[in-house]
Amino acid sequence: MTQDELKQAVAEAAVAYILPMLETDTIVGVGTGSTANLFIDELAKHKNLFDGTVASSEASAERLKKHGIPVYNLNSVDSIRVYVDGADESNDHLHLIKGGGAALTREKIVAACSDEFVCIADESKLVKLLGDFPLPVEIIPMARGHVARELVKLGGDPVYREGVVTDNGNHILDVYNLEILDPIALEKSIDGIVGVVTNGLFAKRSADILLLATKDGIKTIK
Ligand code: A5P
Repeated sequence: MTQDELKQAVAEAAVAYILPMLETDTIVGVGTGSTANLFIDELAKHKNLFDGTVASSEASAERLKKHGIPVYNLNSVDSIRVYVDGADESNDHLHLIKGGGAALTREKIVAACSDEFVCIADESKLVKLLGDFPLPVEIIPMARGHVARELVKLGGDPVYREGVVTDNGNHILDVYNLEILDPIALEKSIDGIVGVVTNGLFAKRSADILLLATKDGIKTIK
């Protein structure tokens, strides 16, 4: 199976997993990226079963609306029953690195507001130790130099993601060569740097379940 076929398989598995949760008042949180896009396309087949969605990016909101699926402002909904999103890396504790698509801040907000976080990925994303994928950090533009120097003190090599402006009007530093032995501690340390908006470690609020597409079928890791 190709990576695209694995992503398609896990998108279908995610819809099958959340189907029993869909009722006329259910709000679904929707992530960002190529796997989330396939999930959106599958979810659209069941759009009459639930109320609507909250999207983690303008791109996902656009795709949902094209399918005729309502997209709500987070401040206008009471709760999100389930959030489905991809990841750039996951360890077997379901600590994640996210933000390859620069949507990490809204993704973290939607994840925090959701009863359940379902991560969907192909098997290439499961790693023993997080950090081969450079850790995205969303920053206030004027703080770029300061945040970069602080990230170097933490052992990383930050690289400015040129030309990228997030949906929140901010910039991204991708941090290479971090040895992420304690994801929760590192997430807190980076959050503590003045000028950081969010970092792409989802460890304090990890996924609740990982649906992993492998060549032998979908594996469920909790
Ligand atoms: C978006 O900012 C990211 O967090 C994505 O969820 C992550 O990059 C996974 O994307 P793919 O599904 O495209 O690999």
